[in-house]
Amino acid sequence: MARVRIYQNTIDTASSVIGAALNVTSQLLTTFLTGYLAIQRITSIGAIMTTGSLSANVYNGLANLGPELNTIRGVTPLFKKYHLDALSRRTDPVEATATITNNLVVHQLTYAYGNKMALAPVSFTVPFPSKVAIVGDSGVGKSTLLNILSGKLKNYQGSVRLGTQELKQLPLAVVQGQVLYIDQLPYIFNETIRYNLTLGDNFSDGAIWHALAESNLADYVRQLPARLDTLAGEKGRLFSGGQRQRLALARGLLRNRKILLIDEGTSSLNRASAIDVEDQFLSLPSVTVLFVTHQLHPENRDRFDQIIQLHSPDTQQQ
Ligand SMILES: Nc1ncnc2c1ncn2[C@@H]1O[C@H](COP(=O)(O)OP(=O)(O)OP(=O)(O)O)[C@@H](O)[C@H]1O
Ligand SMILES: [Mg+2]
Repeated sequence: MARVRIYQNTIDTASSVIGAALNVTSQLLTTFLTGYLAIQRITSIGAIMTTGSLSANVYNGLANLGPELNTIRGVTPLFKKYHLDALSRRTDPVEATATITNNLVVHQLTYAYGNKMALAPVSFTVPFPSKVAIVGDSGVGKSTLLNILSGKLKNYQGSVRLGTQELKQLPLAVVQGQVLYIDQLPYIFNETIRYNLTLGDNFSDGAIWHALAESNLADYVRQLPARLDTLAGEKGRLFSGGQRQRLALARGLLRNRKILLIDEGTSSLNRASAIDVEDQFLSLPSVTVLFVTHQLHPENRDRFDQIIQLHSPDTQQQ
């Protein structure tokens, strides 16, 4: 990055300097030429002023062209990248989405980072909507499993079917339109709460408040000084760990995601806020939740439709 930045600055500076030098030279030449013509009485003395200001306009404009062209050249690769992304989105017809909304079937799924097994073979079926807990010790591959299900890791072994389609064959945009992965520490921008929910997309205030209410954050936001327009603070300082996860939940509900993958992991949440977050998604009737945790709280155990226990890949191989 640093090398590329230095290169860009060098080119920028060089083009500015060359532009400025040509600019001054051209303006001087024009003024001298008009002066010479005025002395020869071919044109009037007043023309020196007029050509002077005209040439200043023209040459200043031309001198700025160099740096502008550099900027345009600099962003071309970005446009190429987004163009490709837009193309892959265009292959996401509504029908692809329609066929993936009935269930999730995982069969003999395994994953290895290089030659290190990260997930022992696992099979299960999740009808929609339902609530599933995925439990297991640290390092058994819980986050790996969620990364596969969210479409991020494609080179898995075995099969993962969303409805009739194999997950790795679906365009990422289709998967992401249905599935929301809520991280152990969701990212909060130092922007307004509204922006943290809309992320620049268009949503009405009504929809935003509805999502906040479903995530049990509406009361908290309502008592903040500027409500939705309150800044979330650097790294979301305004929000506790549990509230950050609920804010991420609200992001997903706002976008009507039907499948939530929640990674509690080694979450720093205290017991009360952890139970609070669980309570929130367990009481959403129409969404499917796959919830990863080290240990289930007995209070909520019975509210899950299915509990999947993952085992260490090392013990499996023995
Ligand atoms: N990017 C990676 N590259 C190589 N190995 C990885 C990578 N991510 C995870 N692993 C390994 O894969 C195994 C499973 O990791 P994973 O993060 O899925 O476990 P986990 O069950 O989520 O653990 P925790 O409960 O601590 O969050 C671990 O042995 C880990 O070291
Ligand atoms: Mg994890």
